[in-house]
Amino acid sequence: MTIADERQSTIEQMVQRGKGILAADESQPTIAKRFAPINVESTEENRRAYRVLLFTALGIEDYISAVITFEETLDQISDDRVLLPEVLARRGIVPGIKVDKGTGPLALASGDLITYGLDGLAERLRHYKSQGARFAKWREVYSISEHNPTALGISANAEMLARYAAACQEQGIVPIVEPEVLIDGDHSLARCTEVTEAVQKEIFYALHRHHIVLEHMILKPNMVLPGKDHPVKASPEEIAAATLRVFRRTVPAAVPSINFLSGGLSPEQATANLNAMNAGYPDVPWLLSFSYGRALQQPVLQAWQGKAENIVTAQQAMLKRARLNGAAQRGEYLASMEASD
Ligand code: 13P
Repeated sequence: MTIADERQSTIEQMVQRGKGILAADESQPTIAKRFAPINVESTEENRRAYRVLLFTALGIEDYISAVITFEETLDQISDDRVLLPEVLARRGIVPGIKVDKGTGPLALASGDLITYGLDGLAERLRHYKSQGARFAKWREVYSISEHNPTALGISANAEMLARYAAACQEQGIVPIVEPEVLIDGDHSLARCTEVTEAVQKEIFYALHRHHIVLEHMILKPNMVLPGKDHPVKASPEEIAAATLRVFRRTVPAAVPSINFLSGGLSPEQATANLNAMNAGYPDVPWLLSFSYGRALQQPVLQAWQGKAENIVTAQQAMLKRARLNGAAQRGEYLASMEASD
C-alpha cells in the first residue's frame, strides 16, 4: 500500500454516515480536571481503567468510527492484557493520537495563543504509527476579545496547523485539523461568525501553500455560537444557519468531513445543534458529524464515580450519547429520545 492508499483507507473508515469520533485525548492536567468533581485521583491506573471503560462499552462501534487517544493510552492494556489501540481496532474503531503539546502565549503578540509540538514531530508520528495510530489531532486555540485574535495570531496559528498536517500526510497519517474559537466571553453570534470565517479562510490558504491533500484530512472546528456570557441565547436552528454560512464560504467541498468539537456545550445542546445542521442542510458537500470530548463523556463520568460497580451503568451512558449523536448525524434526533432510556 502506498502512503496515499493508507490515508484513503483510514479516511473511508473514519467518515461514515451515522458515526462520529470520540475525543478521549485529555492531557494529564485536563483529565485531572475531569476526574476532580467525582473525587477520582488521576493515577495511571485510574486513567487506564476509565479509558478501558470507554473503549469497551458494548455497541458503541455502531456510532463511533474513531477514537482520539492521548500518548499514554497507546501502551496501556485492557484487563485481559490487550493493548488499547488493538482493543479499538478489533472493534472496527480507528485509533488516533493527539500530537500537539498544548498552548502558550504567542511571543511579542497581544494576547493570542500558539500551540507547541512541531519539533521532532515526524519521529513521534513514526513511533505512534508503529503503536497502531492511523490519524492524529492538533488543536489551535483562538480566544475572542475586542482585539483578539489579531491578524498575526490568525496567520501564525494557520501556519502551525498546515505544517502539522503536512508532517502527518507524509507519514500516511490522516490529520484532524482543529481550530477552536473559544466559547468564553460575552461576544455576539455575529462576532463569532466574523472570527471563525477569518480563521477558516487563513487555514485553507495555509493548507494549500503546504500542499495538503484536502481529501485526506478532517476539519474539527467550533460551531458558530454567541459567547457563553452573551445575554442573547441562540437556538439550534440559528446556530446551524450561522455555522453553515461560514463553512460554505470557507471550506472546500474536497474535505470529506467536518467533525465539530463540543467546546463546553452541554451534551444535549451539542447533539441538538448537530441535528439542526443535518436536518436543515442535507445537501452540504461534507459529512457533518461530531468529535466530542466533554459532550460524550460528562454523563459517563457522572455515572462512573470511579467505582467498579458502576462500570456497566457508565458504559450504558456512553452508548446512549453515542447513539443520540449518531442519530443527530443523520438529522434524525428528537429531544424526546433523551428520556427513552
Ligand atoms: P470537547 O468536545 O470537550 O470540546 O473536546 C474536544 C477536543 O478534542 C478538544 O481538543
